[in-house]
Amino acid sequence: MSNLRTLIFATALAVAAPAVAEEKPVDPYTQSSANAGAIPFTGDQMLAAFHGRDGVARIVDDTLDRSVADPKLREIFHATDMERLRRTLKEQVVYLLGAPVAYTGRDMKTTHKDQGINTAEFNILVEHLQLAMDKEGVAYRYQNQLLAKLAPMKRDVVTR
Ligand code: HEM
Repeated sequence: MSNLRTLIFATALAVAAPAVAEEKPVDPYTQSSANAGAIPFTGDQMLAAFHGRDGVARIVDDTLDRSVADPKLREIFHATDMERLRRTLKEQVVYLLGAPVAYTGRDMKTTHKDQGINTAEFNILVEHLQLAMDKEGVAYRYQNQLLAKLAPMKRDVVTR
């Protein structure tokens, strides 16, 4: 009887548990916020200008939705684990905007080395990011500060 109760309880728990999106495993790497590729802004102002973590989540999701739907970029993302990309990119942007969080993803050079991204494709993704920031209502001066923070990463992202 008690076994049956345990089974029912365990089943109820499993049903009640929120669906957690599965990420695919990646090759081992050393976790460090230095992998984010830039020194974060200090203070609360930048994150507030992006409407906090929720604002960043909306911006990253919108940027990636636009990118995977773009005929010029679609192919690049065809084998990508989008669950992982959405999580790590949100983490990276929130970290760079100055939140007291760690970035747990890989570094920009390792991550992009086999993606074969060119300058035109880099620029298209940045345009999608700009549209996403516009839609979120982020003021231009803050948009430009984030873009300036990301721009030097181009040398690690663009490989052809
Ligand atoms: C400054 C610009 C960029 C930043 C900050 C950035 C950031 C990131 C991050 C955080 C990841 C995930 C890291 C991890 O899995 O540990 C990633 C992966 C990826 N990025 Fe970027 N990215 C940039 C530009 C681009 C561009 C321009 C493209 C293509 C047009 C691109 C395509 C990809 C793809 C396909 C992956 C998945 C790689 C894989 O499946 O292993 N990224 N990027």
